[in-house]
Amino acid sequence: MEIKVQAGDISQHPARAIVVNLFEGVKRPGGATGAVDKALGGAISQLIADGEIKGKLNELTLIHTLGRLPSPRVLVAGLGKQADFRLDRVRDITATALRYLRRVGARSVATVVHGAGVGGLEPQRCAQAIAEGAVMGLYRFTRHKKKNENEREIDELTLVEFERAKLAALRRGVAAGRILAEAANRARDMANEPANYLTPAIMAEQAQAVAQEVGLECAILEREQMQELGMGALLGVAQGSTQPPKLIVLRYHGDQRRKATLGLLGKGITFDSGGISIKPSAGMQAMKGDMSGGAAVIAAMWAIGRLKPRINVTAVVPATENMPSGSATKPGDVLRSMSGKTIEVVNTDAEGRLILADAIDYAKSQGLSPIVDVATLTGAMVVAIGKAATGCMANSQELCQKVIAAGEAAGEKFWQFPLYDEYKEHIKSDVADIKNVGRRGEGGAITAALFLADFVADTPWVHLDMASTDNVDKDKGAWVKGATGIPTRTLVNLVLALAKEKAPARARRRGRAG
Ligand code: BES
Ligand code: ZN
Ligand code: ZN
Repeated sequence: MEIKVQAGDISQHPARAIVVNLFEGVKRPGGATGAVDKALGGAISQLIADGEIKGKLNELTLIHTLGRLPSPRVLVAGLGKQADFRLDRVRDITATALRYLRRVGARSVATVVHGAGVGGLEPQRCAQAIAEGAVMGLYRFTRHKKKNENEREIDELTLVEFERAKLAALRRGVAAGRILAEAANRARDMANEPANYLTPAIMAEQAQAVAQEVGLECAILEREQMQELGMGALLGVAQGSTQPPKLIVLRYHGDQRRKATLGLLGKGITFDSGGISIKPSAGMQAMKGDMSGGAAVIAAMWAIGRLKPRINVTAVVPATENMPSGSATKPGDVLRSMSGKTIEVVNTDAEGRLILADAIDYAKSQGLSPIVDVATLTGAMVVAIGKAATGCMANSQELCQKVIAAGEAAGEKFWQFPLYDEYKEHIKSDVADIKNVGRRGEGGAITAALFLADFVADTPWVHLDMASTDNVDKDKGAWVKGATGIPTRTLVNLVLALAKEKAPARARRRGRAG
């Protein structure tokens, strides 16, 4: 889909459909909606007077113009109460409206810039949200279905703005929004892909392709190298599968002034059967998405490679299946991690923390700091928070706050959980330095994070448990049934924000700070 920005009067635009909007309770539409109303001989005002258009959030009203306007259709999108209006609604209403117009068969659409008029939001951010809503909202995962001739596409979206002075900002917003949303869609493609098509080796190939495309360094560590490095925890998870494990490393160097390199770590379990502690079969197919954290990290690196911020970032994704077999790790087995710490594996289904333990030590050996890890780590997170937010836990409050802020800009919610010392008791082992599960029904997401914290030690770190948000079961705003691509855009926003922070004092004295 092409996304354009044009100056002019939307009521005169020839697209196959034009989208205008209305806040709840408005009786006489102004601005672009008013101009369209006028051109339609007052049809919108009439529908409002008749109580058919209320402006409620996500309300869509299609009007056929029957030759009164160059465009054959006008869609009036309800924005809800003006007092509750935020950028998220711009993204979501765009997605909802465009899915509707795609069903109707409109191949080209012109839209007003929701939020930039009476909404009072920054035009650039509105345009970015519109591009994100369009690209994410129209996402489909169809590669394993035969082509459906009735399935239509929207080929062209035009943002029409009356004030010329706003155009440059709108174009910047569209460009950024496109990249962020395409990154999220890449993460979704990987997470939606069945595990027989997305093995650790194929995930590694995709990371290499990303590196090639946007100019990143890529290294894939094989089983032999993992053995040399002593990654017994990662290898312990991988040993039940016939698919060889891969440790994927992507490096972006955007800042020669600083040595500091942010580490983005993502859980890459391409299928989680639970291993010997096997999961119930109902719903097990969803565990093809247990590499969503790794996918988000790889996709974020793609966007970073395109946006080229002044910062260094390295992604580390341990990728393996978790399978039961004669060679699989058994409950009670003890594994020796790269850190030298031994781990009692009480439940082989708590495998995410095992592979991340070694990824964390590898990251530390590479000097990465701070570290942000992303994982579909615990079912307990879903129990704790439901599906509205991703859980975050941290040893650095400052960094955690930055992640939450980066999420707000992306329309991705994060809610922090505590890492109180009291819970550490739960992961003490009788036979090893630590064990991989806490107590049933007692803060399982927190004990999982504390397990990781033990390996992280003093490095500033934030852990994102996205088991609650990796997937949605119905279309909702910019999210389409299936993988969400969360927290790809949050990670990119975080990297952009960190890049904008002041360079170290030494570099500043030389007058090279950005
Ligand atoms: N991948 C799962 C967690 C998960 C559950 C993700 C539901 C998405 C949706 C993880 O590896 C797991 O199985 N965790 C166990 C840990 C338990 C054995 C301590 C869990 O949550 O049940
Ligand atoms: Zn598991
Ligand atoms: Zn898992």
